[in-house]
Amino acid sequence: MSQDCTFVIFGATGNLSQIKLMPALYHLDRAGKLTDNMRIIACGRRGWTTQSCVEKVTAWVTEKARGQLDEETLQRFCSRIEYFNGDLDDEDMYGSLSAHLKAHQHNNVAYYMAIKPQDFGAVVDQLATHKLLDETQGWRRVVIEKPFGFDLESAQTLQAQVRRRLEERQVFRIDHYLAKGMVQNVLVFRFANLLMEPLWNRNFIDHVQITHSETLGIGTRGRYYNASGALRDMIQSHLLQLLTLIAMEPPVSMGAEELRDEKVKVLKSIRPLSESDVQHHTHRAQYTAGHIDSTAVCGYLEEESIPDDSTTETYAALKVYIDNWRWQGVPFYLRTGKRLKKSQSMVSICFKKLPQTFFRASGVNVDTRNWLVLGIQPDACLRLEMTVKEPGLEMHTRTASLDAGFLDADEGYTDAYEDLLLDVIEGDQSLFLRWDEVEWAWRVVEPILRAWAADKGPLDTYEAGSWGAVKSRRLFDDKNFRWRHAIHAVTEDDDE
Ligand code: BG6
Repeated sequence: MSQDCTFVIFGATGNLSQIKLMPALYHLDRAGKLTDNMRIIACGRRGWTTQSCVEKVTAWVTEKARGQLDEETLQRFCSRIEYFNGDLDDEDMYGSLSAHLKAHQHNNVAYYMAIKPQDFGAVVDQLATHKLLDETQGWRRVVIEKPFGFDLESAQTLQAQVRRRLEERQVFRIDHYLAKGMVQNVLVFRFANLLMEPLWNRNFIDHVQITHSETLGIGTRGRYYNASGALRDMIQSHLLQLLTLIAMEPPVSMGAEELRDEKVKVLKSIRPLSESDVQHHTHRAQYTAGHIDSTAVCGYLEEESIPDDSTTETYAALKVYIDNWRWQGVPFYLRTGKRLKKSQSMVSICFKKLPQTFFRASGVNVDTRNWLVLGIQPDACLRLEMTVKEPGLEMHTRTASLDAGFLDADEGYTDAYEDLLLDVIEGDQSLFLRWDEVEWAWRVVEPILRAWAADKGPLDTYEAGSWGAVKSRRLFDDKNFRWRHAIHAVTEDDDE
């Protein structure tokens, strides 16, 4: 059972609260993970009352509830909520909040920043000034959504502000990707099974591909996205985190510090790119109008709030090398894009060529590789491809696979935010980013950001509904390689 605590959600009337936070807290309540005294103070600028807030939350939760809505839980959950009307720019708001928390004896408090990233630092300052971070009556934790900074320098500035006011153990920097069931399974797969470990290195692995593709465009987030782009939005955070889990050494223990120590070592070992390397190691592009599942969609430049001359990338691909003993010389290819053909995330590991071919005279394809594919979403699955002999008198081979799904039909999934919010209550930082992880991830992408900003050449484009920029193939060291688009073997249809 978790501890008594109060969640103060800043930005409680916004989109994150609607689609993730409130539904996740409801599901935690339904799973019996919240104590009777757990309270939620929903802060927002809108002139709502507790009653109108509860009505909204009821609608949000009803829409997102898994399985049948549990009325009893919903009632209990709604009775935890209080609406607190206030403007984050108004100093008096913090004084009233402090008085409110004292009067109602809220001891352990988590502040959730579901607000504009530019406001993170100022709100932390105000909380400190009004003694809202004071731990004499219980713990105080601050949950900071991504992005933590806009580049290395702004991240360092924000961190300096945060460090002045909080200890690292109080700071919970979110990367929701880390709490996805299958992402956590990467660690279990690697460190709870002996089978793969002897093969998990430069002697056996040819290259690794990490893909996150989405059919969605940028929706109503144009302003944010246009300032961010795919590299900042997905690669600096989620994909580099996934890479650390694939590449890290076994940690001393699964404790938060030990785990994050190993992840940081991977980020530090990524070979730095000089600005002139950037051209050969990265590719970016922007979507033009096309079709997603036969529905016509507009191009990026026609999206709401996007300037006509925007050069923001909606597709980014890069190749990195990890200069350590285990991975020397093995390329890791990362790519992500909006408005691509399918929404899926996966890690595809391609093993090396056979050292010798015994079947040369018999028409056997000597170049067939073993692949291990970890499907992250929508399907959490694992596929290991092997070469086998076809039935019949001739010596012909084909690929067979060992496939495993990770959810039985009667098992439900939990949303990443449920794990994360429970971890905040329990004070477990394993799935949150430590400052040095964030800083090193910015160091990795910083030369790319600079080179792209300076590059005034024309931007590559791809049609919405395609597999993205075909020219990104040039990143492969071996020209025979292609992006692997499907968990199941690449078919003609899946090829570019
Ligand atoms: C967010 C990005 O962090 O992650 C979005 O800002 C992206 O642009 C999303 O769509 C992807 O995460 P998920 O869980 O929806 O696959």
